[in-house]
Amino acid sequence: MLNALTDNKIIIAGGSGFLGISLAHHLIDLGASVVIFSRHEPKASGDWRHVAWDGRTLDGWQHELNGAAGLVNLAGRSVNCVKTPDHQDEILRSRVESTRVLGAAMRSIDSPPPVWVQMSTAHIYGDPPADVCTEESAEGYGLAPFVGKAWEEAFSDSVLSTQRSVVLRTSFVLGKNRGAGGGALETLALLARLGLGGKVGKGTQGMSWIHEWDMNRLIEQALTHTDMQGMFIASSPYPASQVEFMRELRRVVGMPIGLPALSWMVRIGARFLLRTDPELALYGRYVVSKRLEENGFEFKLPKLREALQTTLDQSAPTPTA
Ligand SMILES: NC(=O)c1ccc[n+]([C@@H]2O[C@H](COP(=O)([O-])OP(=O)(O)OC[C@H]3O[C@@H](n4cnc5c(N)ncnc54)[C@H](OP(=O)(O)O)[C@@H]3O)[C@@H](O)[C@H]2O)c1
Repeated sequence: MLNALTDNKIIIAGGSGFLGISLAHHLIDLGASVVIFSRHEPKASGDWRHVAWDGRTLDGWQHELNGAAGLVNLAGRSVNCVKTPDHQDEILRSRVESTRVLGAAMRSIDSPPPVWVQMSTAHIYGDPPADVCTEESAEGYGLAPFVGKAWEEAFSDSVLSTQRSVVLRTSFVLGKNRGAGGGALETLALLARLGLGGKVGKGTQGMSWIHEWDMNRLIEQALTHTDMQGMFIASSPYPASQVEFMRELRRVVGMPIGLPALSWMVRIGARFLLRTDPELALYGRYVVSKRLEENGFEFKLPKLREALQTTLDQSAPTPTA
């Protein structure tokens, strides 16, 4: 397929994980030549080239950026963990330091990519129980907003004044496991299949989400549309409450029962059985983008049921065009 990306080199920093591998397949299908920067060799296989970096020092990888058509920076330690002090530290540093070193790399080469697409988080708005946040909303309070702000500040200090920049405040991405993890939906789908996918805590906390196909199309658009600039919320126009989300998920996995979990059960179960942060389940947010609509972005899978069906039907390939 001939596309604006055909034969163009795109760098995906932090591209060895769930989202990076999904994006790499998408861009390769469009004819791009993809280079992944990560500390470890990707577990998945595909037609990309892997370049090792440590995400914090310039030690030879920077020349790969010279002449590239675009950079997408996804690097960051997973937040799906118990928030011990050392994990919190790594969550912050992995994002800030990798962004800063990419900025230093840009300044060390002759021909930096004309566009830098930067991952950020919709959790920057914190956990308001009912408000619907847009790009105009105030940022929130707590670890995730603190990290999100530091990440975006590192980006604005690092991006070149000559570069077009797009920041994507991304919500929960629904996607398939291509050998590099499948995100939090894998755990939720397992709980739903076991009959444990009911109301969590109050159940009214928002679950904002985006399907990987739309996420990849949005990054593609950010790379190729020269009028796209600035910060956008990357999330479907139809966020759901936790109760609604799990009801749709149970329907898609064919499990009529979903036992509820009280807050104290989640606090014990998440920490000791799932080894993750209970607050990820007990709190949430409703986000929608005003700017994507204004920029003419059309979601292919805006509705939750269809997005879940497309994701969880392992035999159905994720559409790319
Ligand atoms: N998945 C979602 O629903 C979602 C939603 C919103 C935002 N995001 C953000 O999108 C990015 C990618 O998410 P993902 O789901 O693909 O995560 P993932 O599967 O955990 O992949 C994370 C990537 O970051 C790299 N990384 C991890 N720790 C690092 C460190 N200390 N220093 C440098 N690089 C490090 C990993 O490669 P190596 O470990 O090999 O270096 C990998 O390439 C993350 O920044 C995440 O916060 C994800």
